[in-house]
Order: sequence, then structure tokens, then C-alpha cells
Amino acid sequence: MEKEKNRQQDKSGRMIEVHVKRQDTPDAPAKWEVFQIKWRANLNVIAVLQELQIHPVRADGHATTPPAWEAACLEEVCGTCTMIINGVPRQACAALVDKLEQPIRIEPLSKFPVMRDLMVDRQRMFDHLKHVKAWVGIDGTYELGPGPRYSNDLAQERYKLSECMTCGCCVEACPQYGPHAKFIGPQAVNQVQLFNTHPSGALNATERLEAVMGDGGVQDCGDAQNCVKVCPKKIPLTESIAKVSRATTVHAIKKIID
Ligand code: SF4
Ligand code: SF4
Ligand code: FES
Repeated sequence: MEKEKNRQQDKSGRMIEVHVKRQDTPDAPAKWEVFQIKWRANLNVIAVLQELQIHPVRADGHATTPPAWEAACLEEVCGTCTMIINGVPRQACAALVDKLEQPIRIEPLSKFPVMRDLMVDRQRMFDHLKHVKAWVGIDGTYELGPGPRYSNDLAQERYKLSECMTCGCCVEACPQYGPHAKFIGPQAVNQVQLFNTHPSGALNATERLEAVMGDGGVQDCGDAQNCVKVCPKKIPLTESIAKVSRATTVHAIKKIID
């Protein structure tokens, strides 16, 4: 019944106009290309790109190259399909065509080097995770036994922070973050809070705090609060930033006193 309905709607001739920002190589100039594809029920932006991959012909009838993009999970978990859709950084797999204004404008994230078309190199964000030691250190590979117990309330609070998928939406929206700025970004600061509140992770709390003190650290946050508005996981980034900022101040005072 549903299939039949979709088939009938396909025959309606309704079209979707899509504008894609293209770039052949990291150094090539960017250009916009306009496409039109047949509307289908329940299309998301990944499905639109797949259509263009199969049939890479522009709206003016000229053949072009298939657009390149990244995707893995297709369920808003891996973060790889993050791009700017109608001016908003978000996951293409979760962007439903019927909820988007047309023409749909798709472009790569602007805070990272473009590799090709919609694929960007987000390595900088992963380097920032290394910089803040975003992990719980274990000493050796032997059996350590059960980890320390902690309250359900803390577990709930940490779970929310742990949902970060390093997608890049928050740093895209952050006015302080950019290719020429030193600011480490809200996602890395959030990881400091996540691992410093783990009973074993707290053993390296001082190192993490020192990693976000000084130039490019948490103090570079201008409190514009854009990050928290675009995070698809609704992570309370500004709360994490405020807590880490307070902790760095306490740590700095202690260092003076000791
Ligand atoms: S609150 Fe801080 S981290 Fe978030 S967008 Fe503003 S400047 Fe960036
Ligand atoms: S904090 Fe949210 S927006 Fe930022 S990288 Fe993580 S999931 Fe994406
Ligand atoms: S493909 Fe993983 S978040 Fe979209």
C-alpha cells in the first residue's frame, strides 16, 4: 500500500533542486553546481547524493563528476556525514528532504581543509582530543578487576557528555574556532570534563586542566553559546566549558599557593 502510494507520487513529476558546492582537490577553486532530481517519499540528503552519484548530470543537462562525501553509520552516530545544509552544520543522514527549504544548498564544513567536494579533513579535532588526553589511562594489559563504583547521578551526567561523535558541528558554529585560531574548541573542553569526572580518569585531571590553560585554551571561549545550539546530541557544552574554566582557575590559584 505504502509502496504503491510512493510509486504514484513518483509519477507526479515533482522535482527537488539541489545546489552542491564542489571542489576537485584541496587547492582547486570551489564552484556551485545545480542539480534536479525526482522527488521520492522519505529521502534524506545522503539518498539525494547517492542519486547524483548514480546519475551525475547537472540541471542544465551537462554531465559532471559524481560528488564525493563521507558517511558510515547512516543513523547519526559516527558524525562523518557532517556538512552544511541550508546554512546549518548537521548530519546529512538525519536531514530529511521534506523538512528542508528548497533549493537545498549543500556545502562542506568551512573550518577544516576540503579534500574533495563535501569531504573535509577533521584531523585537527582528533589532535585536540589527544592533546587533552581524552581517555582513561590503563597501566598494562593485565586483568585490572572491576573499576571503581560511582553514583547513578554521575553516570547519567557523564553519559550525556560521552555522546560526542566528534562531528564538528559545534566547532563550525563557534566564532572562536578556525584554521588560523588556536582555540581548542568546545568538543575538546567537554572531553576534559568527561574524563576528569571519571574516578580513574581523574588521576590525570591536572594534565588535562593544564592542556586547556593558556593560549588556545578554555579562556579563549567567547561565550557566544553557538556550539550548544547546533550540537546534534544536545550535549550541555557551555556547562562543561564553565566547569572546566572554574577548575582551571582553582588549579592556577593552587599552583600559586603551593
Ligand atoms: S560558547 Fe565558547 S565554545 Fe561555544 S560557540 Fe561560543 S565561543 Fe565557541
Ligand atoms: S560536542 Fe556535539 S557538535 Fe560538538 S563534535 Fe561533539 S557531538 Fe558534534
Ligand atoms: S553517516 Fe554516521 S552520522 Fe551520518
